[in-house]
Amino acid sequence: MATTLSINGETREVDTDPRKPLLWVLREDLDMPGTKFGCGMALCGACTVHVDGKAVRSCTTPISTVAGKQVTTIEHVATLPVGRKVSEAWTELDVPQCGYCQAGQIMSATALLSAKPSPSDEEIDQAMSGNICRCATYLRIRAAIKKAAASEGASA
Ligand code: FES
Ligand code: FES
Repeated sequence: MATTLSINGETREVDTDPRKPLLWVLREDLDMPGTKFGCGMALCGACTVHVDGKAVRSCTTPISTVAGKQVTTIEHVATLPVGRKVSEAWTELDVPQCGYCQAGQIMSATALLSAKPSPSDEEIDQAMSGNICRCATYLRIRAAIKKAAASEGASA
């Protein structure tokens, strides 16, 4: 069955089971491997994308539930003003170690700063608590979020 999706500003039609998780539609049907598979159970955050600007776990999101909504992935996030500031801060502070979790981390951080341009430490910890990093880059992640928040135009 065909489902029409809006991915990164483009309308895409996917002919597959409407119960198929968005993560696998992105990776298998749309050839967008930037969004990662970690746990498959909404526990690690590796698969985080935005749906209508909010961070969601694509591994447990059937594509039927995002029909007609705006999906943004790591491939596109740096074209958004806040996503660009986050991506720049990530690069400047050399946040990633192995890198596997980082697409999800950037998506969650961008959703946070889009909703709260100047988050407190507690708000950062709360927003990022579902994104697990086995390399323990948490201190650099928090520093990069603060740097992005302090960047001129971050909330534009
Ligand atoms: S793969 Fe989706 S939360 Fe872990
Ligand atoms: S950088 Fe390796 S899992 Fe996060």
